[in-house]
Amino acid sequence: MARTAALGAPAERREGLEKVTGTARYAAEHPLPGRVHARAVPACVARGRITGMDTGPARAVPGVLTVLTHENAPRLAEPEDATLALLQDSEVPHRGWCVALVVAETPEAARAAAAAVRITYDTADHDVVLTPGHPSTHEPEEANGGQPTRCRRGDPESAFAAAPVRVDVTYRTPPLHNHPMEPHASTAHWDRGRLTVHTSSQGTGDVRRVLAGLFALPVDRITVRAEHVGGGFGSKGSPRPDVVLAAMAARYTGRPVTLAYPRRHLPTVVGHRAPTLSRLRLGATADGRLTALLHDVTTHTSPVRSFVEVAGTTSGVMYATPNLSFVHHVVPLDVPSPSWMRAPGEATGMYALESAMDELAGELGMDPVELRIRNEPDREPAGGLPFSSRHLVECLREGARRFGWPRGARRAEGPLLIGTGVAAATYPVMVSPCTATAEARPDGTYLIRVNASDIGTGARTVLAQIAADALGTPLDRVRTEIGDSDLPEAPVAGGSSGTASWGWAVHEACARLLDRLAGHTGPLPERGIGVRADTSGRADAGSTHARHAFGAHFAEVAVDTVTGEVRVRRLLGVYAAGHILNSRTARSQFVGGMTMGLGMALTEGSTVDAAFGDFAEADLASYHIPVHADVPDIEAHWIDEDDPYLNPMGSKGIGEIGVVGTPAAIGNAVHHATGARLRTLPLTPDRVLTALTER
Ligand code: MOS
Repeated sequence: MARTAALGAPAERREGLEKVTGTARYAAEHPLPGRVHARAVPACVARGRITGMDTGPARAVPGVLTVLTHENAPRLAEPEDATLALLQDSEVPHRGWCVALVVAETPEAARAAAAAVRITYDTADHDVVLTPGHPSTHEPEEANGGQPTRCRRGDPESAFAAAPVRVDVTYRTPPLHNHPMEPHASTAHWDRGRLTVHTSSQGTGDVRRVLAGLFALPVDRITVRAEHVGGGFGSKGSPRPDVVLAAMAARYTGRPVTLAYPRRHLPTVVGHRAPTLSRLRLGATADGRLTALLHDVTTHTSPVRSFVEVAGTTSGVMYATPNLSFVHHVVPLDVPSPSWMRAPGEATGMYALESAMDELAGELGMDPVELRIRNEPDREPAGGLPFSSRHLVECLREGARRFGWPRGARRAEGPLLIGTGVAAATYPVMVSPCTATAEARPDGTYLIRVNASDIGTGARTVLAQIAADALGTPLDRVRTEIGDSDLPEAPVAGGSSGTASWGWAVHEACARLLDRLAGHTGPLPERGIGVRADTSGRADAGSTHARHAFGAHFAEVAVDTVTGEVRVRRLLGVYAAGHILNSRTARSQFVGGMTMGLGMALTEGSTVDAAFGDFAEADLASYHIPVHADVPDIEAHWIDEDDPYLNPMGSKGIGEIGVVGTPAAIGNAVHHATGARLRTLPLTPDRVLTALTER
């Protein structure tokens, strides 16, 4: 298709000025008349049952309107997602579970009253520690998103046993927390049986659907808005308790209610990336051709709902091997419920696979870039389909050229050891059906309406670019309306699929509008001419091709042999993700993902407290997200791909792949620098020093 200058251009974010001047409104910033504040009371036992509640002292705090408990809270219909069955019974499935909700005139009064609620529990034994060979380990019926839990090609065990060169290693990743800058927050109000909610969400359509179910309302009596969202990273990909509790409290009190979770509540309430144990067995010929690849994953889930991190699946995408197996196991523990976190499964599984590949390169005495190139498949190994496009080799070569590879020997600078590492990345192409409208106005402008969510990615900007391109009009003639469930129905910002899904519908609406306008003579009517598009049946149709984005990550680290501290000096990523639709916001997504991967490699990790049953880190002083001083020179580049099997824009997703190869690239660089192979993330100074001492 012919392209205008709009698509691919580094267009600035349309809401940038509002954000930097502080006028952009977030979910908790809707001071409706009479608005009051809610505060959740978390369970302070790891498992058990509530036997008594004394809310008297809490209700006596000045400004308190009510305290909701399982005894007086509005009854909800049974939700699909049991983490939303809030204040419905006396069971405590895990520490931090919401057991009461205080509503007060001010956030301060709500906080004081929440601390004053007296609760007694009948406690039960709990088990929260994921161990290899845990007696409750089992293979689940299905993994996240209905994906298969296992795959088998050939005879992997025998091929591995017979392989001349073998690696058999286990990698571990800890629980991780998303911690978006804006905490989960919702403001709800009821007006004559209509519910309106401002919420911090990756998809208001899903929030509306879930609220309609819980409160037994038709969807057209509910409006959910998320005009601006301060990050989500997956944790806002499904409705979280804040929106349900705010709606319950607003219904009960008849007042608009805001619930903004304090940072300390997030770890147990909104989900976490589940910990993984990944055993990798790689068998190869002496010249570095894989003959067997086996990836066994064990992860945990909560008693509330089954959530199985699919960390093995990418091992069926990457490398040619006649004998392949991946399988997932899960251990139900009394932990808070895990949920989505940016590149869920890909980040953890590829850390293991790409580290093991580095170990195999070491065993073979081969360059790790060469090893990957030598095992380039011509079809997707797991599914057998041809790739719609695959430029991993080009990413590796281009990255090697830009970064400086083949690498030399490690260097020393005083007490510092300097090394470099490489890892590959992949992320699947996902796309969902979507609707959108396009309207031509008599003043020569266009209005695009679609319930997309901009969670900080620049969605409204890139959708305007897609529309301008399809209409052949300058970008400033296009207005977009997003972030409101009353707009044409659209899927969530998740699975790196938002732009592809929404953009497809926008593109189609614009193409139809042009057709309609071509048949129109005379001035446009006052109300404009509008058309609607719906990509159902096409966006969700199966493909004749395996569709994935690929990338290559390179890292340089300095390891302090005195303190054990690892500093990343350089990170470089090269991606092949179809057409890049906005070079500025895309670069920001890649660099953001790599920063998150850097955190996963070096500083981020939540510790399950065996005695208490939840996470030891509940604030940003103890959960170490990389700060500016931790983040070095990061470069993101891409190879523009022409892939006809995707969508009208020819784009793959870019939101998550930046995380995927980064932790292994950093870990492999630490190995190159020190000779020590650490197999547990994060690579904190204590672990690094221990490994150096053992050597
Ligand atoms: Mo993302 S973890 O697909 O919201």
